[in-house]
Amino acid sequence: MSQTESAAFIAGYPLKAHNTFGFDVRAQFACRIEREAQLMAAVRDPRTAGLPRLVLGGGSNVVLTGDFAGLVLLVALQGRRIVREDDDAWYVEAAAGEPWHDFVAWTLAQGLPGLENLALIPGTVGAAPIQNIGAYGLEMCERFASLRAVELETGAVVELDANACRFGYRDSFFKREGRDRFVITSVTFRLPKTWQPRAGYADLARELAASGHTDAQPDAQAIFDAVVAVRRAKLPDPLQLGNAGSFFKNPVVEATQFEALKVQEPEVVAYPQPDGRVKLAAGWLIDRCGWKGRAMGAAGVHERQALVLVNRGGASGAEVLALARAVQRDVLTRFGVELEAEPVCL
Ligand code: EPU
Repeated sequence: MSQTESAAFIAGYPLKAHNTFGFDVRAQFACRIEREAQLMAAVRDPRTAGLPRLVLGGGSNVVLTGDFAGLVLLVALQGRRIVREDDDAWYVEAAAGEPWHDFVAWTLAQGLPGLENLALIPGTVGAAPIQNIGAYGLEMCERFASLRAVELETGAVVELDANACRFGYRDSFFKREGRDRFVITSVTFRLPKTWQPRAGYADLARELAASGHTDAQPDAQAIFDAVVAVRRAKLPDPLQLGNAGSFFKNPVVEATQFEALKVQEPEVVAYPQPDGRVKLAAGWLIDRCGWKGRAMGAAGVHERQALVLVNRGGASGAEVLALARAVQRDVLTRFGVELEAEPVCL
């Protein structure tokens, strides 16, 4: 760490532009991190010693229910590069503060396919491993090589591989044992040279067919364009309507519970899992309970995708959580299925 590095704290910092729900809350202190060394200077500074800390990238997976009485670290580390290649793959690295979608577009512009199914996901590169982002038949962990992180307690810089990150469905070590202990500073992806299009997801296949890709194999750019089109049609743009993407995870239930549910609801949308259990489409369950397009105060269920809760203007985090609880209650009563929130609620 550089001896001259010192932290610039801003007191009473507004977080509205740093959370995609657009909640109008403030941080007691905030500090913008543009170099790795600034991190330790910020957390070791006596002015904020002992205060709770929150790391924010794009703020796309967090529900801030009030002002944050502590130090917010705004990760703004920039940079992306092709690190190396071997016979089988290219390795690309991006700093944690890079916007995810811009990074995906940049890899394609370099002629490196592999991340196109994850186009237009809000948030930053550093946030991607925390919940192992996924969409349209691909999870980030399938393209992950390693990441670099700073352990806040010791200041040690660590390199973690996929095993250490313990990725699961919208889950990782950083949401569990590693929570609040590390700040991810950069991520390296492995993009295999034997690229195959991943175009099986129903919405994606429909969009590709509609744009004339019926016979020829779509290339990565065609998939990227189709994913962007599908997302724009279904998911609200956080800049226009505050949201954090899917608010709930798709619940995974035992096969016996699924069989019973299927008798009750023959149309239930479900995906069998390799372990014999069954993943249910939470959006379908919520929709079926009549919540799609409904509102409670300034919080609402999106009218085109029931999995997404939205800030209709001026909502508080508490209002969104009250709506989430009402939705969870109805789904539990009607289907006996518990919905787990995807974003971190603070
Ligand atoms: N459905 C409904 N009504 C709705 C929403 C969905 O009936 O209001 C049905 C759909 O017709 C479809 C099924 O539910 O048969 C699944 O819907 P969809 O394909 O839209 O995907 P999802 O399960 O709702 C998941 C991810 C999204 C990801 C899409 C595409 C989760 C929690 N969500 O949504 O991820 O973009 O698949 O891969 O796994 C996110 O995590 O923030 C996110 C947006």
